[in-house]
Amino acid sequence: MKHFINLKDIPAKDLRRILIDAKKRKKARMKLNNLDPDKGTPLKGKLLIQMFEKSSLRTRLSFFLAISQLSGRTLTLRPDELHLSKGGESIEDTAKILSSFGDAFMLRTDNDEKLEEFKKHLTIPIINGLSPSSHPTQILSDVFTVEEIKKKPISKLNITWIGDSNNVLNSLIAASIKFSFKLKVGCPKKYQPNKSIMNYIKKNKNKITIYNDPKKAVEGADVIFSDKVISMNDRVNKKRKLKDFKNFKISKNLMKKCPRAIFLHCLPRGSEVDENVFKSKQSKVWLQALNRIHVQKSILLYCLGKLR
Ligand code: CP
Ligand code: NVA
Repeated sequence: MKHFINLKDIPAKDLRRILIDAKKRKKARMKLNNLDPDKGTPLKGKLLIQMFEKSSLRTRLSFFLAISQLSGRTLTLRPDELHLSKGGESIEDTAKILSSFGDAFMLRTDNDEKLEEFKKHLTIPIINGLSPSSHPTQILSDVFTVEEIKKKPISKLNITWIGDSNNVLNSLIAASIKFSFKLKVGCPKKYQPNKSIMNYIKKNKNKITIYNDPKKAVEGADVIFSDKVISMNDRVNKKRKLKDFKNFKISKNLMKKCPRAIFLHCLPRGSEVDENVFKSKQSKVWLQALNRIHVQKSILLYCLGKLR
């Protein structure tokens, strides 16, 4: 059994094994319907319990389809209907019940410590479906999408992030260390990655460069990543933050500076990208969203010790 909480804590070779499995599984079911099972029904009889403390469209649907295609089932709990949030039931007791009724637990939370506390008490794997500090299933899937489109290992590509230093960027930074790719980050000075992330980068001697000029950040890029300026956990003056990011909007003109680049965005989007970029040929956001299913299937198999 393995947990899937942060990319930085998962061996690079395991992350690569997950991607290799996802590629094979995706190829093998090209002609199948969404709910048709994969050959071998690898998670038959298994129950994935999901809980979302914050909104979700893609993560919810992609985990539903992922476990379904592996022949398992899923049940989504509403946090406001559990004793955990209202009646004061402990994480320890909740975890005990989840462990005896289910086989894996996927949690989207507004508190990183909760993931650790659940991990301490669960005897089944926990998967981080987004927390304030990371979004590992998204980024592993995005590495898959980049390699699928560019037909090259990501270590041979130049990756650029334009946007806030948020959970998605933290996972992208962890991925850049695990998969050894060059990463440029473009953001206003005030919104650069914090000290602990900068120390993690330094400690791992990775090639991450930060620019306060978006034009410099996109030079030579093969992939441009972006995300909303205001994340779900952001308790900031929204008007001011949006204004601070005004020059970092992904426009046609900016994309012209990196003509071979694809545009990726985990979604949902805000005002950080112009409509004509979002809907352009360079944008691969719909494929990116769909690939979550394939990679999360292999993550589930990894967690449950069933990766081929
Ligand atoms: N990208 C992503 O995680 O989307 P949702 O918030 O809709 O799940
Ligand atoms: N950074 C965003 C990602 C949403 C999928 C957020 O946390 O709201």
